[in-house]
Amino acid sequence: MTQEPTRRIVLGITGGIAAYKAAELLRLLVKQGVEVQVAMTEAACRFITPTTMQGLSGNPVFTDQWDASMPNGMAHINLSRAADAILIAPASADFIAKLAHGLANDLLSTLCLARNCPLIVAPAMNREMWLNAATRRNIAQLLADGVQVLGPDCGVQACGEEGMGRMLEAEQLAQGIAAFFKPKRLLGTKILITAGPTYEAIDAVRGITNRSSGKMGYAIAQAALEQGAEVVLVSGLTALVKPQGAQGVDVVSAAQMFDAVKQRAGDCDIFIGVAAVADYRVAQPSEQKIKKSAGTLTLELVPNPDILAYVASLPKPPFCVGFAAESENLMEYAEQKRRAKKLPLLVGNLAQQAIGSDDNELVLFDDSGSHALPHADKLTLARLLMQHIAQRYEGASK
Ligand code: C5P
Repeated sequence: MTQEPTRRIVLGITGGIAAYKAAELLRLLVKQGVEVQVAMTEAACRFITPTTMQGLSGNPVFTDQWDASMPNGMAHINLSRAADAILIAPASADFIAKLAHGLANDLLSTLCLARNCPLIVAPAMNREMWLNAATRRNIAQLLADGVQVLGPDCGVQACGEEGMGRMLEAEQLAQGIAAFFKPKRLLGTKILITAGPTYEAIDAVRGITNRSSGKMGYAIAQAALEQGAEVVLVSGLTALVKPQGAQGVDVVSAAQMFDAVKQRAGDCDIFIGVAAVADYRVAQPSEQKIKKSAGTLTLELVPNPDILAYVASLPKPPFCVGFAAESENLMEYAEQKRRAKKLPLLVGNLAQQAIGSDDNELVLFDDSGSHALPHADKLTLARLLMQHIAQRYEGASK
């Protein structure tokens, strides 16, 4: 058996409260067999000590640009040349600004500028800092420069506020690094994904929708990006932030989703319909808010087009993957659906387990039968599913 080469990472830590998570991240990376060299900014040392990071990495920690222990006095060059990647976690707003502008006024920023290996950043900051126009510009610049951005996440922040800006958990970052080192099976492949719910207007303020959160579709978009694919994510209304690097198209109704997909389906290699598309829409939505009256209100519903079935029946269809959320008889209904929509692959799940939750259980249906994936969080499942899709797509395009 050929042995995997040792992977080497420089873990750069900048000054933010999320620096405490860097210790756990380091432990997980070491557990994965990654050789980690830690470099910390002065501010980072105020949040977590170099001694902790030295103990966990088994290597000396670099904090000083003027470290005399380097025989050639060039820590910034030596460190980056020996690394397969540099991961900055947490990456503060200030450090991201430095990276975007190519500043090099401490050891960590200098070694990032002098690098000849990929750079990955895990932002961590207050939500207003994340939303600030300057940070938006800086992140866009990093993406344009080919820097990979992992996260941030949404949730309660150390300052007590709630929103985008939390650093991803150590476990998620360690998984992201593991994915980074895996070969990219879908490099250059164009993948079109629909995600989230649709909203069908009844009147100016009311509508019919469903409880889909979009989490599964967004996780699949993230997993596809990790495999090197070009991703277009057509999304209904959700509270989620699109994975960095995905081209987002926001829609509201099934008709808008259909239009967005029709425009792009001819130009994609793989289509994954994860959206919970409303089967019906209101025949004539009222432009004004409907006034309450004593009697019953009857709505006339007309069927929506089946977006997935449309794409799958194109003369030269992309490799199509569908999702089926069933509340009972999953095995029977999912396979029936796969055949009816003429799909090479259909992913089945139980609606009551899947909708809105963070975890899921998936069963894959294809010509060779069914195959259950283990119960896991949606990103883990998305990564397993993308492996499967890549394998089937490679087989189908040979
Ligand atoms: O038939 P059913 O709605 O259960 O099929 C689910 C699959 O079909 C999902 O992949 C969903 O995204 C897709 N779908 C669609 N357009 C519709 C209804 C479902 O693309 N109008």
